[in-house]
Amino acid sequence: MTLRVGVLTGGGDCPGLNAVIRAVTKSLIRHGGCEVLGIADGFAGLMDEAPRTRALGWEQVSGILHVGGTILGTSNSANPLRDAATLAQVGRNVQALGLHVVVAIGGDGTMSLAHGLEQVGLACVGVPKTIDNDIARCERSFGFDTAVATVTDALRRIESTAYSHHRVMIVETMGRHAGWLALEAGIAGAADVILLPEIDYDLQAVVARCQEREQRQRYTVICIGEGAKERGGSQTVRERVPGSPEPVRLGGVGHVLRGRLQPHLKSEVRTTVLGHVQRGGDATPFDRVLATRFGHHAARLVVEGQLGRMVTLQGGQIGSVPIADVADTQRTVPLDHELLAMARYIGVCLGQ
Ligand code: F6P
Repeated sequence: MTLRVGVLTGGGDCPGLNAVIRAVTKSLIRHGGCEVLGIADGFAGLMDEAPRTRALGWEQVSGILHVGGTILGTSNSANPLRDAATLAQVGRNVQALGLHVVVAIGGDGTMSLAHGLEQVGLACVGVPKTIDNDIARCERSFGFDTAVATVTDALRRIESTAYSHHRVMIVETMGRHAGWLALEAGIAGAADVILLPEIDYDLQAVVARCQEREQRQRYTVICIGEGAKERGGSQTVRERVPGSPEPVRLGGVGHVLRGRLQPHLKSEVRTTVLGHVQRGGDATPFDRVLATRFGHHAARLVVEGQLGRMVTLQGGQIGSVPIADVADTQRTVPLDHELLAMARYIGVCLGQ
């Protein structure tokens, strides 16, 4: 029997998605003799009355290895589990398309949806993606390396204008409730202060570091993750999207921090919110290789009948874990992480 495999990308896009689509398609065709269907716009492509799909072959996935974004389109609001009618429509579409398995490439929201769909009989294999690097049981998701490079580049550019104007410059990164992106880019970009969602910051500690630098270097660069908050405060919510797999969208904490810092400092304080530039652009070579490894492994899981599993990277080795183990969980920066200890040791202020 020829296996018919659907491939979709869900959640926010990131560099490396196309590399996975390419690798999984080529491996499924070449080694599994499978038919591959690309599903448009994440789970949304299975929720409409007429499913939105297209055949993926060698030609359709050629030349896309390095290209950012996703040729299939994505959605971070489509929820196939939102009600019984939608779920039934998805079931009819899967049957009409003759899909045996869906390879779902996405973040924790997509894994939770894949897990939910499995409960009602749709076989899935997961591939973790996100610039946030926050997927449980996976030490590195593709997209993260590219985003770190983008933020690092921005921090270096900001530093040159910070020292010229003797300013305190705040750079806000994405990352949701995990501080990996702010932490790694902050270290790589030589930020003086790094503020993460995992460590509620003490305003006085940040003020003290900026004042100290006003005396000597005369400028300060602060890298803050969007999920960070002041001790005793709350996260800065940009928007709420009820019913969506990601109902709370963060953003704007850099402006909040500016308002809190400015009254205490002589230097001007400015904020740059990097936004979606962090998700765009060509994937780095590291992400291209990781995404290709993930895509190839996902195809192997399909062909070997190891369904209900998500590809992972642990100890540098590609493997897999049950999707059930990662659904509805996130991997934040542990407070005893070596990078935090090292950052403190070399004098980076973590807001404590
Ligand atoms: O999960 C990826 C991510 O880029 C987060 O870092 C960020 O909070 C969110 O997506 C932004 O989503 P949107 O594109 O809906 O603004």
